[in-house]
Amino acid sequence: MQNTEDQKPKPTIDFANLQYQYQRYKEEIDSAIHKVLDRSNYIMGEEVQQLEENLQHFTGARHALTCSSGTDALLLAMMALGIGPGDEVITTPFTFIATAETIALLGATPVFVDIDETTYNIDPAKIEAAITEKTKAIMPVSLYGQPADMDAIQTIVDKTLKTKNQKLYTIIDGAQSFGATYKNKTEVHYADIYTTSFFPAKPLGCFGDGGAVLTNSDELAEKMKMLRVHGQNKRYHHKYIGLGARMDTLQCAVVNVKLKHYTKDLSLRQEVAEKYTCLFREKGKGRRKKDGLEWLEMNPSTFILPPSTAKDRTSAWAQYSIRVNTSNAARSELQAKLKEAGIPTAIHYPMPLHLQECFSYLGYQENAFPVAETVSKQILSLPMNPYVSDEEIAYIVQEISACLS
Ligand SMILES: Cc1ncc(COP(=O)(O)O)c(C=O)c1O
Repeated sequence: MQNTEDQKPKPTIDFANLQYQYQRYKEEIDSAIHKVLDRSNYIMGEEVQQLEENLQHFTGARHALTCSSGTDALLLAMMALGIGPGDEVITTPFTFIATAETIALLGATPVFVDIDETTYNIDPAKIEAAITEKTKAIMPVSLYGQPADMDAIQTIVDKTLKTKNQKLYTIIDGAQSFGATYKNKTEVHYADIYTTSFFPAKPLGCFGDGGAVLTNSDELAEKMKMLRVHGQNKRYHHKYIGLGARMDTLQCAVVNVKLKHYTKDLSLRQEVAEKYTCLFREKGKGRRKKDGLEWLEMNPSTFILPPSTAKDRTSAWAQYSIRVNTSNAARSELQAKLKEAGIPTAIHYPMPLHLQECFSYLGYQENAFPVAETVSKQILSLPMNPYVSDEEIAYIVQEISACLS
């Protein structure tokens, strides 16, 4: 916390605290950047390959390819699987626009399925009903850093192949979840392709745009490698229509440094999350169990729900998001009060994708996905990064409970 120049010292808390992280690793990062500058090998320099090897090592993936962003990673994955006009891709409506936007951009149709109320990820129990003969892939998103229930999704994939002789691919949009695990393994081992983002505020971020696609398939890796450079298999020979989607050498150099410290960062994020939840539980004047969720009473009519991670998973904690059972207006009021108290908050995401104007052509109506719609009205993300101090966590929890009591 820093004091402002106000007479009454007001803490200012940083949401993602990127500046602090840079200062922590400044020497290493500056030196890595200067090495690239000295060589001026800005495109596909040796740091790119180094990062790809490091990402493979970190995740156990057979192949990791860096690319220009998490959005382009999704495009590369779907292009490699041949997804295009006439195809349907099943995904969640409670995610960042890029997940479904890229499906539509390739001429395919996003088909939304409601979310699970505990993890906020796609609800596998509702997927089967959405499968048609046009379904080509299922694309879960590991929201806030927590993997979806991949075994349940794989069971559906296996069953569809067996009963309908229809192959469904799985692509995990792991833009928020790099380093998370499902049943003790990283997510790449549960999908045809796992994509991620190195957007600066992501758990593993670069200093601009960046991303990666990871896969255990030699064939898909080879195709994505070509697609990333305009579908080129030999200089100026283009096997596929592709993209210019390389990640800059400079950005790879930054991520190489951050990756060295990432295991520690992940455990610090886990600790921050646990401390928040523990303090919220202490503040709760009572408990209310509903649909298996344990809400904490802040006042007789206001309850909050801390996030929960399924027992067989770990989260990368891209966000620590609580639910508050208030109206939209009351949530805005809470945000304003917290802002006044020096606490930044964010809403991920205020409007589910099926209600976005750009997807009106899909014909979804309000109440189509009640869980996603309810959660989007109640969700509130609190400052989350590896360096949120105990003092800050205590202050944030105290201010929230004071605002709500
Ligand atoms: C779930 C999800 N998918 C995709 C993306 C896109 O990543 P990028 O911003 O690197 O293009 C993001 C990033 O915000 C995201 O959160």
